[in-house]
This record gives sequence, structure tokens and C-alpha cells, in this order.
Amino acid sequence: MTTHNQFHGIADAVRTELASVTRLAHINTFHPGAFDWSEAGTADELNYVSTVAYGEAGHEKQAVAYLTKELAQLAEIERHVSAVMTMVMGELHDLRDPINVGHELHNALSCFASEEIQHANTFYRYVRALSGVEPRVDKALFDERFDVFRTDDHPYVKLVALCCSAYVGESVITVFEHRADALDPQRDRFFTRLLHTHGLDEARHVKIDHVAMKLVYPALTAHQQQRVRELLSQIEELNRRLAEAFQAATEQILAVDFTTGNPAAAVQLEMTKAFGSKVFAPDGTLHTVDEILDDELSAVITAFSGVGRVHAAGIPPLSPEVPALAGAGQ
Ligand SMILES: [Fe+2]
Ligand SMILES: [Fe+2]
Repeated sequence: MTTHNQFHGIADAVRTELASVTRLAHINTFHPGAFDWSEAGTADELNYVSTVAYGEAGHEKQAVAYLTKELAQLAEIERHVSAVMTMVMGELHDLRDPINVGHELHNALSCFASEEIQHANTFYRYVRALSGVEPRVDKALFDERFDVFRTDDHPYVKLVALCCSAYVGESVITVFEHRADALDPQRDRFFTRLLHTHGLDEARHVKIDHVAMKLVYPALTAHQQQRVRELLSQIEELNRRLAEAFQAATEQILAVDFTTGNPAAAVQLEMTKAFGSKVFAPDGTLHTVDEILDDELSAVITAFSGVGRVHAAGIPPLSPEVPALAGAGQ
């Protein structure tokens, strides 16, 4: 089977969806220069991030350390996604399959990669403004994480694996965005606006992930699908090591336990495990996080964020009960 024939049946659907997803990418986006950074680390803001993480004020130090670890680590993962996506675009340069003609794929991946590098820029700046420290880990495992994708696999194999690896984290932070919106519906707080503006881009990334998972992945050969799973498990293992390194670096630099008794961290872990383990069904097909939500997980997410689903379009207006989230997840 030639590459041309392999993707012929899905090319129109992929290109049409990518054009639709990215149509307003120039409007629904943000630049870190647009924030008033002096608002990021005020006393009110510290009180708020304590409420987001612990359900109440009084845990400011722990909440700041928790966000420092998670967002510095996220910034490194976003920088890596941007770099690998740019490399894949280079490999796609002279590949003339029916998806990779016209501007749609190139534009979608260019937007995705450039948005992620600005997210990394933004989150590192936020961490500095919030905590005054910059946790660094040895070279951030960047070479190892990049080398996972320096193979002779088809670029779409790499793209699908990369999208799947980004997808879990993008889904988890979307639930945190719902929680911030519920606690602070007027978006008075800097952290709510940070998550909301990040989410403008992430909503597109998730849709592009869905294109990769639902359209491109099924068009791959059985061997290519196997390679997707292998690349994914390699990058997930390295990202786990990266998370451990950031945990240790942050605990050392801020000298506070931000894991024990942290309800947001508990919900985050539960979602990450469930999403990561269930997105690939036992039969090898890929599911969205909303497709794999069971009653138990849906209840956890609803109690935490006020929204019972993760990405579904047409999320209903938040109910008046939602702001009563103190202690959610405990
Ligand atoms: Fe991002
Ligand atoms: Fe993203």
C-alpha cells in the first residue's frame, strides 16, 4: 500500500476539520505580553491559588509550591511538544500525500507549535512571578525526550504519538480551567485568566489531537499503530521521570510538602491515571477522555470543577451550586 493510497480516504475529512479548527486561531489566542504581570503574585492572588488547590485559604505556601512544580514541568513539556512538532513539519516537507497538500495541515501544526512555545514562555514567567524561584532540573531530559522522536518512523506516526502524549495533560488542565471558572466566574483573578487564555489555544489542540486519534491513527498500518504505542510509552516514561525531577527540585528549593493532603493534587493524579490508562482501549482503538468517563470519574470531576465532562462542546452554564467547592476532592 502506498502512502498516497493509505491516507486517500481520510484526507478531505482531515483537511476540512483542521481548516475549521484553526479558522479563528488568530482571534482566540493570547500573547504573554498582554498580561499585567504585576497582578500575578499579590496577596489576594496567593489566597486564591490556595483556594483552587486546597479548597480554602491558609495553604498559600503549599499551593504556590504545587503550581510552581506543575507549571514549570508543563512549560518543559510544552517546549518539547513545540520542538518535536516543528521537526515533524520538516519531515513532512517533501511528503506529497493527500493530507499534506494545501495549507491546512501546515497551518494547523504551525499554530499548535507556536502556541505551545508561548505557553512555555508564559508559564515560566508565571512561576517566577508567583514563587520567585525557577526550579531547574538537569537539562530537563530534553535530549532524551527529543531522541524518542528521532526515528525513521512515518511523520504521522510521530504526530499521533505526540498528540496522544500531549492530550492527557491538556485534558487535565482543562478540568482545572473549569474549576477556576466556577470559583471565579467573573475572572477577577490573574490565575483564572491565565488558565482561560491558555485554554483558548488548548481547545484547538484537543480538537487537533482528536483528528490525529480518530482519523489519522485508524488509517495507519498495524505496524505503524504499534509504533505509535511504543513511542507514546517511551515519552510517557520520560515525562514521568521529568515530573519526579521537578518534584524533587521544587521541594528542595521551596522546602514545603505540597503533596500530602492536597485535594487538587489527588484529583489531578486520579484523572491522569484514568485518562492515561483508558484512552487506548484494549483492542488498540483510541478514545477521547469524554468517551471513557465512567460514573465514578465523572462524579470526581463534577465535584472538583462543577462540569461533568471534559471537552464536550456546548458545556451547559454553571449551576449556582458550583462555587461551593471548598474542600472538593477531599
Ligand atoms: Fe499549552
Ligand atoms: Fe496544548
